[in-house]
Amino acid sequence: MDFQDLMRPHLKKVRPYVPGKPIEELRRERNFKGEILKLASNENPYPPIKEITKVIIEELEQLNRYPNSGSYYLCRDIAERYGVDTEQVFVGNGSNEIIDLLARAFINPEDEIVFPFPSFIVYPIVSQLMGVKAVEVPLKDYRLDLRAVKEAITHRTKIIFICNPNNPTGTYVSSGDVEQLLNGLRSDIIVAFDEAYFEYVVADDYPDSLELLKSHPNIIVFRTFSKIFSLSGLRVGYSISEPSLVTCLHKVRQPFNVNRVAQAAARAALKHSEMMNVRVKENRTQMKLVRDSLIEHGFRVPESQTNFLLALPHAEIGDIIDKLLELGIIVRPMEPFGLGKGTMRVSIGTPEENKRFIAAIDEIV
Ligand SMILES: Cc1ncc(COP(=O)(O)O)c(C=O)c1O
Repeated sequence: MDFQDLMRPHLKKVRPYVPGKPIEELRRERNFKGEILKLASNENPYPPIKEITKVIIEELEQLNRYPNSGSYYLCRDIAERYGVDTEQVFVGNGSNEIIDLLARAFINPEDEIVFPFPSFIVYPIVSQLMGVKAVEVPLKDYRLDLRAVKEAITHRTKIIFICNPNNPTGTYVSSGDVEQLLNGLRSDIIVAFDEAYFEYVVADDYPDSLELLKSHPNIIVFRTFSKIFSLSGLRVGYSISEPSLVTCLHKVRQPFNVNRVAQAAARAALKHSEMMNVRVKENRTQMKLVRDSLIEHGFRVPESQTNFLLALPHAEIGDIIDKLLELGIIVRPMEPFGLGKGTMRVSIGTPEENKRFIAAIDEIV
């Protein structure tokens, strides 16, 4: 029997999330003996700082106990950090979980979800999971086109996802653009600002979404400990919104959705967050080096506010992703995001890793 025949019909169309190729898989596939460099998942190239790993190790002693069910103390610390009420904070098993919970809590079969495309690939996936219409709004010159997003709204629109800065382009929308979107928007449309790369942003006119939340209670903001805090492997992210929206999220979450090591590590990360400033700075200088080099080698590379770059090859460069794999370098192919063959997203690594990537581009191109 094919169990897909028994499955709920709308789920048959779901295309599961395809992650960046794991290091072990490349080693197995190509029998690659040297050191493999993974620049495919927008991870922080450095392990968590010692102050965090110390707390993680201590917490392991308590694994016989369930975690705090609603991540109360972490919510309180996040609230204190951002000047909001504890009741406005929700913690998830990665911000990814909260995207899913938001859809599960609010989407009815007749609703529509609007988001720019290409953007974070989980928005189309949750739309498919809910079996509803996903209204994909094309980017304009690799930037989110919020005017077109506004035009795409119908009486059925329930959630709008705005990934800012946007994955996979690295580009951002300004406070002026966002205010134009929010101006006159129906108050029963939830506007979800996905700010996974928020800590990396340097643009002066990047919107202050928490300030906007004060006058637009239909906003929810997602952030994560996966990127600048180097905790991708632990899975912990959070949202900030109106308390009544948080109540809805609690109704659809699992009883212990965030493990106790993740909660403790995230609290330690907040306590030592100023230590991340050097990493933000280094990311900025390294990103410039990588971008300049890619442009020199004939790629088009939109300016990025994140820890990754989108690189679009000219026709004569062709598809170099496989050649990079041969050299033990994993980048993210952008075809599943609707971009042309050979277009890649590359994360910024350590200075040594970036040097190796640039040398590889030089060798191939
Ligand atoms: C835009 C965006 N949102 C959300 C996430 C998910 O982050 P988390 O690890 O917190 O689930 C990512 C991860 O890459 C992302 O790029």
